[in-house]
Amino acid sequence: MTASVLAVVGARPNFVKAAPVIEPLERTDGITVRLLHTGQHYDRALSDGFIERLGMRYPDANIGVGSGTHAEQTAAVMTGVEADLLEHPADLTLVAGDVNSTMGAALAATKVGVAVAHIESGLRSRDWGMPEEVNRVVTDRVSDLCLCTSPDAVENLAAEGISGDAVQLVGNTMIDSLFRILDGVDRDAVLASQDVDRRAFVLVTLHRPGLVDEPERLGAVIEVLGELGAELPVIFPAHPRTTRRLTGAGIAVPGGLRIVDPMDYAEFIALEAEARLVITDSGGLQEETTVLGVPCLTYRTTTERPITVEQGTNELIGVDPGALREAARRALATDPPAEAPQIPLWDGKSGPRAAAAIEAFLAP
Ligand code: UD1
Repeated sequence: MTASVLAVVGARPNFVKAAPVIEPLERTDGITVRLLHTGQHYDRALSDGFIERLGMRYPDANIGVGSGTHAEQTAAVMTGVEADLLEHPADLTLVAGDVNSTMGAALAATKVGVAVAHIESGLRSRDWGMPEEVNRVVTDRVSDLCLCTSPDAVENLAAEGISGDAVQLVGNTMIDSLFRILDGVDRDAVLASQDVDRRAFVLVTLHRPGLVDEPERLGAVIEVLGELGAELPVIFPAHPRTTRRLTGAGIAVPGGLRIVDPMDYAEFIALEAEARLVITDSGGLQEETTVLGVPCLTYRTTTERPITVEQGTNELIGVDPGALREAARRALATDPPAEAPQIPLWDGKSGPRAAAAIEAFLAP
Protein backbone atom coordinates (compact mmCIF):
# COMPACT_ATOMS: atom_id res chain seq x y z
CA MET A 1 0.00 0.00 0.00
CA THR A 2 1.10 3.56 -0.62
CA ALA A 3 -1.15 6.26 0.74
CA SER A 4 -0.75 9.87 1.70
CA VAL A 5 -2.43 11.60 4.59
CA LEU A 6 -2.86 15.33 5.09
CA ALA A 7 -2.99 15.98 8.84
CA VAL A 8 -4.43 19.41 9.65
CA VAL A 9 -3.86 21.12 13.00
CA GLY A 10 -4.50 24.73 13.95
CA ALA A 11 -5.43 25.43 17.54
CA ARG A 12 -4.05 24.50 20.95
CA PRO A 13 -6.30 21.48 21.62
CA ASN A 14 -5.59 20.02 18.15
CA PHE A 15 -1.93 19.42 18.89
CA VAL A 16 -2.49 17.25 21.97
CA LYS A 17 -5.14 15.16 20.20
CA ALA A 18 -3.40 14.72 16.84
CA ALA A 19 0.25 14.19 17.89
CA PRO A 20 -0.31 10.68 19.35
CA VAL A 21 -1.95 9.60 16.07
CA ILE A 22 0.46 11.27 13.66
CA GLU A 23 3.51 9.69 15.30
CA PRO A 24 2.55 6.00 14.73
CA LEU A 25 1.02 6.90 11.37
CA GLU A 26 4.35 8.29 10.19
CA ARG A 27 6.03 5.03 11.21
CA THR A 28 3.54 2.92 9.23
CA ASP A 29 4.98 1.37 6.07
CA GLY A 30 3.37 2.74 2.97
CA ILE A 31 1.85 5.82 4.60
CA THR A 32 3.29 9.30 4.24
CA VAL A 33 2.01 12.23 6.27
CA ARG A 34 1.97 15.87 5.29
CA LEU A 35 1.41 18.17 8.28
CA LEU A 36 -0.45 21.42 7.70
CA HIS A 37 -0.92 24.16 10.32
CA THR A 38 -3.88 26.47 9.67
CA GLY A 39 -2.47 29.26 11.84
CA GLN A 40 -5.74 29.69 13.80
CA HIS A 41 -3.59 29.90 16.91
CA TYR A 42 -0.37 31.83 16.35
CA ASP A 43 0.79 32.96 19.79
CA ARG A 44 3.77 30.87 20.81
CA ALA A 45 2.07 29.81 24.04
CA LEU A 46 -0.93 28.42 22.13
CA SER A 47 0.93 26.93 19.18
CA ASP A 48 4.68 26.36 18.72
CA GLY A 49 5.22 25.82 22.44
CA PHE A 50 2.82 22.87 22.24
CA ILE A 51 4.37 21.47 19.07
CA GLU A 52 7.80 21.49 20.67
CA ARG A 53 6.68 20.12 24.02
CA LEU A 54 4.85 17.24 22.34
CA GLY A 55 7.90 16.40 20.25
CA MET A 56 5.93 16.91 17.05
CA ARG A 57 7.86 17.84 13.98
CA TYR A 58 7.27 21.30 12.59
CA PRO A 59 4.38 21.52 10.11
CA ASP A 60 5.29 21.34 6.41
CA ALA A 61 3.28 24.50 5.79
CA ASN A 62 1.21 27.12 7.61
CA ILE A 63 -1.83 28.74 6.01
CA GLY A 64 -1.68 31.65 8.45
CA VAL A 65 -5.43 32.21 8.81
CA GLY A 66 -5.08 34.06 12.13
CA SER A 67 -8.03 35.59 13.95
CA GLY A 68 -11.32 36.81 12.53
CA THR A 69 -15.03 36.17 12.56
CA HIS A 70 -16.16 32.58 12.34
CA ALA A 71 -16.93 32.91 8.66
CA GLU A 72 -13.62 34.63 7.90
CA GLN A 73 -11.64 32.05 9.82
CA THR A 74 -13.51 29.06 8.38
CA ALA A 75 -13.34 30.44 4.84
CA ALA A 76 -9.59 31.02 5.11
CA VAL A 77 -9.06 27.49 6.41
CA MET A 78 -11.17 26.05 3.58
CA THR A 79 -9.36 28.03 0.90
CA GLY A 80 -5.94 27.13 2.28
CA VAL A 81 -6.66 23.43 2.76
CA GLU A 82 -8.23 23.17 -0.70
CA ALA A 83 -5.17 24.77 -2.31
CA ASP A 84 -2.86 22.48 -0.36
CA LEU A 85 -4.80 19.36 -1.39
CA LEU A 86 -4.79 20.43 -5.04
CA GLU A 87 -1.02 20.90 -4.94
CA HIS A 88 -0.30 17.85 -2.78
CA PRO A 89 -3.01 15.25 -3.49
CA ALA A 90 -3.87 13.07 -0.51
CA ASP A 91 -5.92 9.94 0.08
CA LEU A 92 -7.16 11.08 3.46
CA THR A 93 -7.39 14.27 5.51
CA LEU A 94 -7.02 13.85 9.27
CA VAL A 95 -8.65 16.39 11.56
CA ALA A 96 -9.11 16.52 15.35
CA GLY A 97 -11.52 18.03 17.84
CA ASP A 98 -14.10 20.73 17.29
CA VAL A 99 -12.43 24.04 16.42
CA ASN A 100 -13.03 26.11 13.31
CA SER A 101 -9.91 24.65 11.69
CA THR A 102 -11.36 21.15 12.14
CA MET A 103 -14.59 21.91 10.32
CA GLY A 104 -12.99 24.10 7.64
CA ALA A 105 -10.44 21.42 6.76
CA ALA A 106 -13.05 18.63 6.72
CA LEU A 107 -15.37 20.60 4.43
CA ALA A 108 -12.61 21.57 2.02
CA ALA A 109 -11.32 17.99 1.82
CA THR A 110 -14.67 16.37 1.21
CA LYS A 111 -15.45 18.88 -1.56
CA VAL A 112 -12.34 17.95 -3.48
CA GLY A 113 -13.15 14.26 -3.04
CA VAL A 114 -10.64 13.45 -0.31
CA ALA A 115 -11.78 11.16 2.51
CA VAL A 116 -11.89 12.61 6.04
CA ALA A 117 -10.96 10.96 9.35
CA HIS A 118 -12.04 12.73 12.52
CA ILE A 119 -10.33 12.27 15.89
CA GLU A 120 -12.77 12.82 18.81
CA SER A 121 -15.82 12.21 16.69
CA GLY A 122 -19.39 11.95 17.99
CA LEU A 123 -19.32 14.26 21.02
CA ARG A 124 -22.51 16.29 21.38
CA SER A 125 -23.45 19.04 23.84
CA ARG A 126 -26.81 19.55 22.07
CA ASP A 127 -26.21 23.26 22.57
CA TRP A 128 -26.46 24.71 19.08
CA GLY A 129 -25.31 28.08 20.43
CA MET A 130 -21.78 26.71 20.85
CA PRO A 131 -19.65 27.15 17.72
CA GLU A 132 -17.90 23.90 18.66
CA GLU A 133 -21.20 21.99 18.44
CA VAL A 134 -21.77 23.20 14.88
CA ASN A 135 -18.19 22.23 14.07
CA ARG A 136 -18.65 18.74 15.56
CA VAL A 137 -21.88 17.96 13.72
CA VAL A 138 -20.72 19.27 10.34
CA THR A 139 -17.33 17.56 10.61
CA ASP A 140 -18.88 14.21 11.51
CA ARG A 141 -21.42 14.47 8.71
CA VAL A 142 -18.65 14.69 6.10
CA SER A 143 -16.27 12.25 7.81
CA ASP A 144 -15.60 8.84 6.30
CA LEU A 145 -13.86 7.51 9.39
CA CYS A 146 -15.14 8.57 12.82
CA LEU A 147 -12.66 7.87 15.63
CA CYS A 148 -14.47 7.97 18.97
CA THR A 149 -13.28 8.44 22.53
CA SER A 150 -16.25 6.86 24.36
CA PRO A 151 -19.36 4.70 23.80
CA ASP A 152 -21.72 7.70 24.14
CA ALA A 153 -20.05 9.22 21.07
CA VAL A 154 -20.67 6.01 19.11
CA GLU A 155 -24.34 6.15 20.19
CA ASN A 156 -24.66 9.81 19.16
CA LEU A 157 -23.36 8.98 15.71
CA ALA A 158 -25.68 5.97 15.38
CA ALA A 159 -28.63 8.24 16.22
CA GLU A 160 -27.56 10.44 13.29
CA GLY A 161 -27.33 7.45 10.94
CA ILE A 162 -23.54 7.07 11.07
CA SER A 163 -22.49 3.51 11.96
CA GLY A 164 -20.72 0.38 10.79
CA ASP A 165 -17.03 0.30 9.89
CA ALA A 166 -17.01 4.10 9.54
CA VAL A 167 -17.17 4.35 13.34
CA GLN A 168 -14.27 3.09 15.46
CA LEU A 169 -14.02 3.34 19.23
CA VAL A 170 -10.31 3.92 19.81
CA GLY A 171 -10.24 5.83 23.12
CA ASN A 172 -8.96 9.25 24.02
CA THR A 173 -5.79 10.27 22.18
CA MET A 174 -5.43 13.45 24.27
CA ILE A 175 -4.89 11.23 27.31
CA ASP A 176 -1.90 9.64 25.51
CA SER A 177 -0.29 13.09 25.41
CA LEU A 178 -1.20 13.73 29.04
CA PHE A 179 0.40 10.52 30.34
CA ARG A 180 3.47 10.90 28.19
CA ILE A 181 4.28 14.45 29.15
CA LEU A 182 3.30 14.08 32.81
CA ASP A 183 5.75 11.21 33.10
CA GLY A 184 8.71 13.45 32.36
CA VAL A 185 7.78 16.55 34.34
CA ASP A 186 9.20 17.50 37.75
CA ARG A 187 5.98 18.28 39.60
CA ASP A 188 7.70 19.54 42.74
CA ALA A 189 9.66 22.06 40.69
CA VAL A 190 6.47 23.29 39.03
CA LEU A 191 4.70 23.64 42.39
CA ALA A 192 7.71 25.53 43.76
CA SER A 193 7.82 27.83 40.74
CA GLN A 194 4.19 28.79 41.37
CA ASP A 195 4.75 28.97 45.12
CA VAL A 196 1.92 26.55 45.94
CA ASP A 197 1.67 23.26 47.86
CA ARG A 198 0.25 19.94 46.67
CA ARG A 199 -3.57 19.83 46.80
CA ALA A 200 -3.65 23.30 48.35
CA PHE A 201 -4.63 25.47 45.39
CA VAL A 202 -7.35 25.89 42.79
CA LEU A 203 -6.61 25.94 39.06
CA VAL A 204 -8.94 27.89 36.77
CA THR A 205 -9.37 28.21 33.00
CA LEU A 206 -12.26 30.18 31.47
CA HIS A 207 -12.24 31.39 27.89
CA ARG A 208 -15.60 30.71 26.23
CA PRO A 209 -16.88 33.81 24.44
CA GLY A 210 -20.34 33.44 26.05
CA LEU A 211 -18.74 34.12 29.42
CA VAL A 212 -15.70 36.30 28.90
CA ASP A 213 -17.21 38.63 26.29
CA GLU A 214 -19.87 39.78 28.79
CA PRO A 215 -18.17 42.15 31.26
CA GLU A 216 -20.90 41.75 33.89
CA ARG A 217 -20.79 37.96 33.84
CA LEU A 218 -17.02 37.88 33.79
CA GLY A 219 -16.81 40.39 36.65
CA ALA A 220 -19.19 38.34 38.81
CA VAL A 221 -17.10 35.19 38.32
CA ILE A 222 -13.86 37.04 39.06
CA GLU A 223 -15.42 38.24 42.32
CA VAL A 224 -16.23 34.66 43.40
CA LEU A 225 -12.74 33.48 42.40
CA GLY A 226 -11.34 36.36 44.49
CA GLU A 227 -13.32 35.16 47.54
CA LEU A 228 -11.92 31.66 47.02
CA GLY A 229 -8.47 33.18 46.61
CA ALA A 230 -8.74 34.67 50.10
CA GLU A 231 -8.86 31.07 51.43
CA LEU A 232 -6.31 29.33 49.20
CA PRO A 233 -4.29 30.34 46.11
CA VAL A 234 -6.27 30.43 42.87
CA ILE A 235 -4.14 30.20 39.70
CA PHE A 236 -5.80 31.28 36.48
CA PRO A 237 -3.68 30.93 33.31
CA ALA A 238 -5.71 33.10 30.98
CA HIS A 239 -6.26 32.75 27.22
CA PRO A 240 -5.31 36.01 25.46
CA ARG A 241 -8.99 36.63 24.78
CA THR A 242 -9.81 36.52 28.51
CA THR A 243 -6.90 38.79 29.43
CA ARG A 244 -7.96 41.34 26.83
CA ARG A 245 -11.56 41.31 28.01
CA LEU A 246 -10.52 41.80 31.64
CA THR A 247 -8.36 44.77 30.76
CA GLY A 248 -10.90 46.16 28.29
CA ALA A 249 -13.74 46.03 30.80
CA GLY A 250 -11.56 47.47 33.57
CA ILE A 251 -12.32 44.52 35.87
CA ALA A 252 -10.19 44.66 39.02
CA VAL A 253 -8.49 41.39 39.93
CA PRO A 254 -8.75 40.61 43.66
CA GLY A 255 -5.51 39.90 45.58
CA GLY A 256 -5.74 36.12 46.06
CA LEU A 257 -6.53 35.46 42.41
CA ARG A 258 -3.40 35.02 40.30
CA ILE A 259 -4.08 35.68 36.65
CA VAL A 260 -1.06 34.51 34.67
CA ASP A 261 -0.13 34.03 31.01
CA PRO A 262 -1.08 30.80 29.19
CA MET A 263 1.25 28.07 30.38
CA ASP A 264 3.55 25.57 28.86
CA TYR A 265 1.64 22.27 28.46
CA ALA A 266 3.90 20.27 30.80
CA GLU A 267 3.76 22.94 33.47
CA PHE A 268 -0.01 23.19 33.16
CA ILE A 269 -0.75 19.47 33.45
CA ALA A 270 1.65 19.19 36.41
CA LEU A 271 -0.44 21.85 38.18
CA GLU A 272 -3.65 20.18 37.05
CA ALA A 273 -2.50 16.86 38.51
CA GLU A 274 -1.64 18.45 41.85
CA ALA A 275 -4.60 20.85 42.20
CA ARG A 276 -7.17 20.51 44.99
CA LEU A 277 -9.87 21.63 42.58
CA VAL A 278 -10.19 22.70 38.95
CA ILE A 279 -12.78 25.22 37.71
CA THR A 280 -13.16 25.38 33.93
CA ASP A 281 -15.31 25.85 30.86
CA SER A 282 -12.94 23.83 28.68
CA GLY A 283 -13.81 20.47 27.15
CA GLY A 284 -10.36 18.94 27.47
CA LEU A 285 -9.94 19.73 31.16
CA GLN A 286 -13.10 17.81 32.02
CA GLU A 287 -11.43 14.70 30.60
CA GLU A 288 -7.94 15.33 31.96
CA THR A 289 -9.17 15.93 35.53
CA THR A 290 -11.17 12.69 35.39
CA VAL A 291 -8.10 10.69 34.45
CA LEU A 292 -6.03 12.51 37.09
CA GLY A 293 -8.67 12.00 39.79
CA VAL A 294 -8.89 15.74 40.47
CA PRO A 295 -12.34 17.24 41.27
CA CYS A 296 -13.57 19.50 38.45
CA LEU A 297 -16.37 22.06 38.39
CA THR A 298 -17.49 22.86 34.86
CA TYR A 299 -18.92 26.37 34.58
CA ARG A 300 -21.35 25.56 31.78
CA THR A 301 -24.92 24.35 31.41
CA THR A 302 -24.12 21.46 29.08
CA THR A 303 -21.27 19.07 28.44
CA GLU A 304 -20.42 17.06 25.34
CA ARG A 305 -18.43 14.79 27.64
CA PRO A 306 -21.09 13.18 29.91
CA ILE A 307 -18.80 10.25 30.71
CA THR A 308 -16.70 12.62 32.84
CA VAL A 309 -19.77 13.37 34.98
CA GLU A 310 -21.15 9.80 35.05
CA GLN A 311 -17.87 7.99 35.66
CA GLY A 312 -15.35 10.72 36.41
CA THR A 313 -14.71 13.67 38.72
CA ASN A 314 -16.61 16.31 36.77
CA GLU A 315 -19.61 18.27 38.04
CA LEU A 316 -21.67 20.47 35.74
CA ILE A 317 -22.65 23.49 37.83
CA GLY A 318 -24.31 25.87 35.36
CA VAL A 319 -23.38 29.52 34.89
CA ASP A 320 -24.55 31.18 38.08
CA PRO A 321 -21.77 32.81 40.16
CA GLY A 322 -23.67 31.91 43.37
CA ALA A 323 -23.78 28.25 42.32
CA LEU A 324 -20.04 28.41 41.65
CA ARG A 325 -19.42 29.73 45.17
CA GLU A 326 -21.54 26.96 46.71
CA ALA A 327 -20.10 24.18 44.56
CA ALA A 328 -16.52 25.29 45.25
CA ARG A 329 -17.15 25.41 49.02
CA ARG A 330 -18.73 21.96 48.90
CA ALA A 331 -15.92 20.52 46.79
CA LEU A 332 -13.24 21.94 49.08
CA ALA A 333 -15.00 20.43 52.12
CA THR A 334 -15.10 16.96 50.52
CA ASP A 335 -12.12 14.64 50.24
CA PRO A 336 -10.93 14.15 46.65
CA PRO A 337 -11.24 10.57 45.33
CA ALA A 338 -8.57 8.22 46.71
CA GLU A 339 -7.98 6.83 43.21
CA ALA A 340 -8.46 8.21 39.74
CA PRO A 341 -11.47 6.77 37.90
CA GLN A 342 -10.59 4.33 35.10
CA ILE A 343 -12.34 5.09 31.82
CA PRO A 344 -12.13 2.19 29.33
CA LEU A 345 -9.63 2.88 26.51
CA TRP A 346 -8.34 6.09 28.10
CA ASP A 347 -5.15 4.19 28.72
CA GLY A 348 -2.43 6.09 26.88
CA LYS A 349 -2.60 3.76 23.87
CA SER A 350 -5.36 5.38 21.85
CA GLY A 351 -3.04 7.00 19.29
CA PRO A 352 -1.72 3.67 17.94
CA ARG A 353 -5.29 2.30 17.87
CA ALA A 354 -6.43 5.32 15.86
CA ALA A 355 -3.45 4.95 13.50
CA ALA A 356 -4.29 1.25 13.01
CA ALA A 357 -7.90 2.16 12.19
CA ILE A 358 -6.66 4.68 9.62
CA GLU A 359 -4.28 2.12 8.11
CA ALA A 360 -7.14 -0.41 7.81
CA PHE A 361 -9.34 2.25 6.20
CA LEU A 362 -6.65 3.09 3.64
CA ALA A 363 -5.79 -0.54 2.85
CA PRO A 364 -7.17 -1.61 -0.54
C1 UD1 B 1 -10.56 28.12 19.97
C2 UD1 B 1 -11.70 27.12 19.79
C3 UD1 B 1 -12.15 26.60 21.15
C4 UD1 B 1 -10.98 26.07 21.94
C5 UD1 B 1 -9.90 27.12 22.05
C6 UD1 B 1 -8.72 26.55 22.80
C7 UD1 B 1 -13.12 27.64 17.84
C8 UD1 B 1 -14.47 28.04 17.43
N1 UD1 B 1 -12.86 27.72 19.15
O1 UD1 B 1 -11.10 29.22 20.65
O2 UD1 B 1 -13.08 25.56 20.95
O3 UD1 B 1 -11.43 25.70 23.24
O4 UD1 B 1 -9.51 27.53 20.73
O5 UD1 B 1 -7.71 27.43 23.04
O6 UD1 B 1 -12.33 27.25 17.01
N2 UD1 B 1 -5.99 34.92 19.87
C9 UD1 B 1 -4.75 35.34 20.25
N3 UD1 B 1 -3.68 34.56 19.91
C10 UD1 B 1 -3.81 33.39 19.25
C11 UD1 B 1 -5.11 32.98 18.86
C12 UD1 B 1 -6.18 33.75 19.20
O7 UD1 B 1 -4.58 36.38 20.86
O8 UD1 B 1 -2.80 32.71 19.00
C13 UD1 B 1 -7.16 35.78 20.24
C14 UD1 B 1 -7.65 36.60 19.06
O9 UD1 B 1 -8.02 37.84 19.50
C15 UD1 B 1 -8.87 35.85 18.61
C16 UD1 B 1 -9.37 35.24 19.90
O10 UD1 B 1 -8.22 34.96 20.68
O11 UD1 B 1 -9.81 36.68 18.00
C17 UD1 B 1 -10.12 33.99 19.65
O12 UD1 B 1 -9.32 33.06 18.92
P1 UD1 B 1 -10.01 31.93 18.04
O13 UD1 B 1 -9.01 31.08 17.40
O14 UD1 B 1 -11.05 32.53 17.19
O15 UD1 B 1 -10.78 31.06 19.10
P2 UD1 B 1 -10.38 30.64 20.58
O16 UD1 B 1 -11.14 31.49 21.54
O17 UD1 B 1 -8.92 30.52 20.75
